[in-house]
Amino acid sequence: MSSTSSAPGKVYLFGEHAVVYGEPAVPCAIERRATVTVSERGDDRLRVSSSDLSLDGFTVEYAGSDGGKPDVDVPTPLIEAAMGYVDAAVEQARDAAGRPDAGFDVEIESDIPLGAGLGSSAAVVVAGIDAATRALGVELDAREVAERAYAVEHEVQEGQASRADTFCSAMGGAVRVEGGDCRTLDAPALPFVVGYDGTSHDTGALVSGVRGLREEYDFAADTVEAIGDLVRRGEEALADGDVEELGRLMDFNHGLLSALGVSARSLDTMVWAARDAGAQGAKLTGAGGGGCIVALDEDGDALTALGLTPGCERSFRAALATDGVRRED
Ligand code: PMV
Repeated sequence: MSSTSSAPGKVYLFGEHAVVYGEPAVPCAIERRATVTVSERGDDRLRVSSSDLSLDGFTVEYAGSDGGKPDVDVPTPLIEAAMGYVDAAVEQARDAAGRPDAGFDVEIESDIPLGAGLGSSAAVVVAGIDAATRALGVELDAREVAERAYAVEHEVQEGQASRADTFCSAMGGAVRVEGGDCRTLDAPALPFVVGYDGTSHDTGALVSGVRGLREEYDFAADTVEAIGDLVRRGEEALADGDVEELGRLMDFNHGLLSALGVSARSLDTMVWAARDAGAQGAKLTGAGGGGCIVALDEDGDALTALGLTPGCERSFRAALATDGVRRED
């Protein structure tokens, strides 16, 4: 039996990094999806492949279902990292179905840039758990998929993961995450634009950097709390559909993230290009260091400006995805 599921990526409207310390965050799912097809094999092996350009195209076959290492060299460190997520997602499906020795062929397609702040790993894990459990004849609801996907991120990122990415990808739409309290929010159709510098970041290293700063300097701990206050104001603006205020708060949020040392020249350049072109607001999204920014761009001028900005490799509109994890077969 073969099953295909997809799940969306996300942008952070507000609250990345601070969410790791129990402050609220509001990520929003976007119409960029990872699609995972899983078929059960007759043995206990795991074979993962992708012909996808964003994953550079690869095939990796695993030695067995015991968390064994791939029996071929994986092509790049990024794909090696992706394999860790796939392996742990498959383990969750085996556990959910009570089939510890199940083997799978897994095919991944994704139009979400890897490791760039758009929740690529969460989307692959969410879609992968859903497809693999269904391939074993088990249906999980979206909240259970989210919970299991969080367990994967928690394991792979060695305890340094919030529930934000995985809950958002599983549920879709705008969500609010504060510690273990995860809820969906009503949100208007926000005019998101994404700018991507073509690089990827190491989320774990960036989270560790902020953790160290927060322990060493009171200003950093205060900054994390200030982000929490800003997120609460942002929730009110979201409920009111006040795009001007949302944009202003995004600008503040970017400044506070810069104070925590997680912006980068390329991200600042794209943020300012979007603002100069009349965006209502712009900020980095995700762990920072490189990757993507998100702007609110009602009239499309920021999208045009980003397309002409040196260092912005790609820019695109990103509609709010109302569907979270979705079966595609
Ligand atoms: O860049 P991403 O998509 O890995 O997002 C990381 C978000 C953080 O808040 C920095 C970490 C987390 O687990 O919430």
